[in-house]
Amino acid sequence: MAFLLSTLPRQNLIKQVYRLLLLSALGFCSTASSVEPATTTLSSDCPASFLLSDNNQCLLRNLYQLYNSLGDHGIGGLKTALPAHRDGFSPEQIDLGRLLFFDPVLSADQSVSCASCHNPSQGFSDGLGRSVGIHGQLGSRSAPSLWNSAFLKDFFWDARSQSLEEQALSPLFSPQEMGNNPSQLLSSLRAVEAYPKLFKQAFPDTKDLSLDQIATALAAFQSSLISLNSRYDQYAHGYGEALNAQEIEGLNIFRSFVARCSQCHMPPLFTNQQIAVIGSPEPEDMPRDIGAEKTFDSVKLKGGFKVPSLRNIAETAPYMHSGRFQTLREVAEFYSGGRGHAVPEGEDLLLHWHISEPDLNADELDRLVDFMRTLSDSSMLPTVPHTVPSGLTTISGKAARDNNSQKSSSEKT
Ligand code: HEC
Ligand code: HEC
Repeated sequence: MAFLLSTLPRQNLIKQVYRLLLLSALGFCSTASSVEPATTTLSSDCPASFLLSDNNQCLLRNLYQLYNSLGDHGIGGLKTALPAHRDGFSPEQIDLGRLLFFDPVLSADQSVSCASCHNPSQGFSDGLGRSVGIHGQLGSRSAPSLWNSAFLKDFFWDARSQSLEEQALSPLFSPQEMGNNPSQLLSSLRAVEAYPKLFKQAFPDTKDLSLDQIATALAAFQSSLISLNSRYDQYAHGYGEALNAQEIEGLNIFRSFVARCSQCHMPPLFTNQQIAVIGSPEPEDMPRDIGAEKTFDSVKLKGGFKVPSLRNIAETAPYMHSGRFQTLREVAEFYSGGRGHAVPEGEDLLLHWHISEPDLNADELDRLVDFMRTLSDSSMLPTVPHTVPSGLTTISGKAARDNNSQKSSSEKT
């Protein structure tokens, strides 16, 4: 980021960002009604908000690149920089990743795709407390949103993975999720007529379709899921009317030292990317999920989880690693309910010091919810393919067949 700022004159960056915002708005309108052509050629254009470099890399541009890190704005400040991000994938790699993401051919019995649990119409989550994998198996945690994963340094609730590439292999080969194995995955992709050609377009310098290429393409697609144009962002960049008085009140509670939300959910990403033990409750029939204790082999981190970003949070109910809370109001009440109040008696959890006793009243809790709902922006939603190279039914195909357009879970909050 610092590199970008020092090499790009400020005026240029502003011009580029505005051009991209305009183009993306136009692109969004035109793709909404168009029918996607058959998938024999990958796109040579970058997704909205990325600029194509001379060496065919998509580079992210956004207004936060104008700001220095925290500067003197403090935690919760508006004009602060985002953490370092992943970009530089080619348009073809991103587009191939998009097709793979929606293609159930990646799973052992060709029934489950990444999008089954990370559905774009549900904030790239699945609306479930615990995800359901191959053969209807119930998992142990809730599926996180994938928006803005380009900015994350650790993956999974317990931070056990450090890159999108490493992460992707986990669901593919997990018996509970997609149930596949490397040789079957490669042979089923090679058996689909279009894939070897598409992989060649995305990776022209390498010979054969490989696991590394699958992981790279999925990482490329996921790092293109950018959500940075919410009403909060417009307010942060200086458009004061983007938020109403109640939402601004909510923002001020959120970043106050009474509620302390922004100490962990630090703007503009709304996570400080740390692990914290907050003592959220497990589902009634489940034992304590030890979380990061296992990853770091440290009992101090028992029940510790990665602080999740709150971007598009209104779309991704239910909440927490356990999916225990149905609404944002319930989450806000949890934080106000007293330090450790949801930890069963006799259980020893080392709660984070920012988990306090804010004792917020009903109005203040409502304002926090009002504010969290301003973090929604799906304007850069990628096109969901109607058909994938394998010809198998995608989530959009299913939705069309059942004539059951998914109801946005945001209505529940
Ligand atoms: C059966 C449902 C299911 C499928 C299929 C699935 N995921 Fe997930 N995904 C989850 C769950 C649940 C988690 C959280 C698991 C945990 O933290 O232990 C997760 C976590 C992730 C994360 C980490 C996000 C973060 O912020 O920590 C990424 C990235 C991800 N999945 C991408 C993918 C990709 C790519 C695929 C396809 C190759 C995929 N997932 C398939 C359910 C699923
Ligand atoms: C000490 C750090 C910390 C503080 C302070 C904090 N949070 Fe969290 N927050 C977390 C962690 C860690 C999780 C995930 C915990 C889990 O899954 O059990 C979380 C989860 C959430 C979620 C659910 C996210 C999801 O994707 O399911 C919301 C919403 C949320 N916090 C809002 C708030 C609000 C509002 C405040 C202030 C009242 C706040 N948080 C204060 C660390 C913190």
